Amino acid sequence: MEVIITKDRSEASQYVAEMFMNVLALKDRPVLGLATGGTPKGVYGRLIDAYTRGEITFHHALSFNLDEYLGLGKDDEQGYARYMKENLFQFVDFKSENTHIPNGKAPDPEKECARYSDLIHAQGGIDIQLLGIGDNGHIGFNEPAKTFKRHTHIVELDEKTREANARFFDKKDDVPFKAITMGIGEIMQSRRIVLLALGEHKAEIMERFLGTEDIDPELPASILHAHQHVTVVMDEAAAKNYRKGEKHEATD
Ligand code: PGA
Repeated sequence: MEVIITKDRSEASQYVAEMFMNVLALKDRPVLGLATGGTPKGVYGRLIDAYTRGEITFHHALSFNLDEYLGLGKDDEQGYARYMKENLFQFVDFKSENTHIPNGKAPDPEKECARYSDLIHAQGGIDIQLLGIGDNGHIGFNEPAKTFKRHTHIVELDEKTREANARFFDKKDDVPFKAITMGIGEIMQSRRIVLLALGEHKAEIMERFLGTEDIDPELPASILHAHQHVTVVMDEAAAKNYRKGEKHEATD
C-alpha cells in the first residue's frame, strides 16, 4: 500500500485528480468509481478545472458511484445523484447514459442491487475507485459488521454514519436509516483504489486503519490491505497520528 502525505487538502486533491486524469488519458473506455461526501469535492473541482482548460475529456468514460440513500432519488436535494450533478457532472462532458448511481427509489431495491452489481461486472469492473473513509472505518456504506458483503446490497446505516452525515440534512432525523452500497467484492475488484482522507477528524481512524494489517470486517477499510494497488492520500492533519512502518497491535 502506497501512502502519500501532502501539506494540505488542496495538494491532496490535486494529487488524486491527477491519478484520475492519467486514467482518463490512457484508457479508451475508462471506468471511474466515484464517491460523495465532503472529501471528494476538491478532487472534482480540480477535474472540472482541467476539463475547462481543455486538458481532459470524459466523453469516453463511464462512472459508477459507491452508494445512495434508500428512498432518495435523482431529484432529492440530499441524494447523491444531485450531489454528483452539482459537484461534477453538470460541468463536464460525461454522457449522461454512462454515469451510474444506484437508484434509491427503485420499486424493488433488492432487484436494483442485483442490477447495479451486474452492470459493474458487465463493464469489466472499475479502473480507478475513489474512496473516503468514515469515522467508523466504512468504505462506501459498508459499515462495520461481522462479515463482508461481496455485492451491492442494502445496508442499515450505523448511528455514527447518520450523525456524521446529519450536516448535509436539516436535522439528523432526516438522514435515511438505510442505503444501497457497492459491495466489498466490487470495490476490491477495482484495478486501482485511492483512499483520500482529509482533516484532523480523520486522524484517529487513519491511525487505526494503517496501524494494523489485520483484516477485520469491524473495520471495513482494513480489507484494502489485501489489494495490490491501493494509494492512500492524506493531508498532514489526517496523517497526524501515522508513523510510517510502525505497526500497532489490533485492539478488540
Ligand atoms: P466524508 O465522508 O467525505 O463526508 O468525510 C467519508 C465517508 O463517509 O466515506
